[in-house]
Amino acid sequence: MFISRSKTSKELEWDGEFYQQFSAVACHYDELMGGVPYGMWVDYVELLLSLEQVKPRSVVDLACGTGNVSFELAKRGYPVTGVDISPAMIAAARAKRGQSPDLELEFECQDLRTLCLPEKYDLAVCLFDSLNYILWEEELEAAFRNIAQCVTTEGLLIFDMNSEHALESELFTQNNLFREADLRYNWVSHFDRNLRISEVQMFFEVRNGGDQPVRFKELHRERAYSMEQVLALLDKTGWNCLKTHEAYTTNRPRSRSERWYFVCSPKKLLEGS
Ligand SMILES: C[S@@+](CC[C@H](N)C(=O)[O-])C[C@H]1O[C@@H](n2cnc3c(N)ncnc32)[C@H](O)[C@@H]1O
Repeated sequence: MFISRSKTSKELEWDGEFYQQFSAVACHYDELMGGVPYGMWVDYVELLLSLEQVKPRSVVDLACGTGNVSFELAKRGYPVTGVDISPAMIAAARAKRGQSPDLELEFECQDLRTLCLPEKYDLAVCLFDSLNYILWEEELEAAFRNIAQCVTTEGLLIFDMNSEHALESELFTQNNLFREADLRYNWVSHFDRNLRISEVQMFFEVRNGGDQPVRFKELHRERAYSMEQVLALLDKTGWNCLKTHEAYTTNRPRSRSERWYFVCSPKKLLEGS
């Protein structure tokens, strides 16, 4: 087991053997996510917006990774700012940006736990279980507070999270070793029931046609928050949670839903408060 929490800091201790999450894999991320229906996800976000009758004039895509959601939104005419903690993911996003000069799209490298943006946006999205990567409740609280500072009073925050059920059931134990592919992976997850953290050892092998494949490994960690915890944190940090859904439906989450969606609006400050 690699999980340990340093006594002096809130950071998890680095074991030295694995690359940081979303570093070495960044230049292979889009190939790895080739089957992810980003277009359908953005259709779903637009459905949730229409149900709230919100038409955003600007969007911030939080934890944007290589910008797949950001590009999909920008192609639909929204001016988008993508933000991510990983310099390698942002570098990959910016490299793609260069090929689409007509889009209103920019990228920034920032940590949601200390996020500070000069502008406010009508919509903040944070998709693909990115908030599960924030491991401690006080840090998720800080992230929600910071996000509230960059959304307009009439705006919305829409995000998803992996459910406790998904992380408890070792969703991330998977591989593609059964098929011939240039990028092969083998992921092994372990869920720590005390810390409520899923730790995934990700092994990758890249074959570029040469004799020697390149191998690297990354360690990823996601926290399983309960629905009650998330709702309490939203309430504490200036958000009204308007809706919760089982992902990609308009149904309420069920006990076995793998992914939850949240639609939130900023609390209106009372005059004089
Ligand atoms: C599973 S990826 C999702 C990326 C992107 N949203 C997508 O749909 O492809 C999770 C992303 O969250 C980012 N991330 C994790 N912790 C973060 C933090 N504290 N602040 C900003 N980004 C973070 C990672 O760098 C990574 O790019």
